[in-house]
Amino acid sequence: MRPTATLWVSSITGNTAKIAEGVRAVLDELGWDVHDAQLGQCPADDFVIVCFWCRKSSLDPKSMRFVESCSGRKVLALGTFAGFPQGKYADLVRNNVTTLIEQGNECLGVYLCQGKVRKERIEERVALPESHPHHLDKWGILRLTEGQKHPNDTDVLYAQAFVRDYLPSPENH
Ligand SMILES: Cc1cc2nc3c(=O)[nH]c(=O)nc-3n(C[C@H](O)[C@H](O)[C@H](O)COP(=O)(O)O)c2cc1C
Repeated sequence: MRPTATLWVSSITGNTAKIAEGVRAVLDELGWDVHDAQLGQCPADDFVIVCFWCRKSSLDPKSMRFVESCSGRKVLALGTFAGFPQGKYADLVRNNVTTLIEQGNECLGVYLCQGKVRKERIEERVALPESHPHHLDKWGILRLTEGQKHPNDTDVLYAQAFVRDYLPSPENH
């Protein structure tokens, strides 16, 4: 019997969808049957992959609702966000997402990579007063400018390797 997984994808501008496509391809290659998740329904599969975009340093609202409907599942989360995956802020996001998932499920891990934001949004944020929490300083501009190149093929490869590493069965070897 082929192992099965449920895949949840939430993406507004396509960044997370690109990561999710890579995830689907690697699961297929490894012999998994993938079912598309339905909002509001706890998946029948034990293994669930949540592809989310980051909002307010956590899951986006739809992904939050989906995770709330899951119970007793092994959940692997992959998200795109505006931060650097190696930065301190990424730790905060991973912690927030882990905490939400662990409310009723087991969190196997949280992968993050950068995703592009609207260019106009960068300009809007540069123009904000320095005292504003969303004001972009030099480092912020560098970060969001780099983000315009993501997710790239390497981000997708890292996501695929991450999924392979954390599969809850011997198929990862
Ligand atoms: C309303 C809104 C709120 C956002 N909040 C955050 C945030 O809190 N932290 C962050 O790092 N990125 C934030 N972002 C950036 C998105 O997470 C990022 O652009 C993501 O890659 C979008 O994914 P998508 O293309 O799949 O929709 C926000 C974007 C929007 C539109």
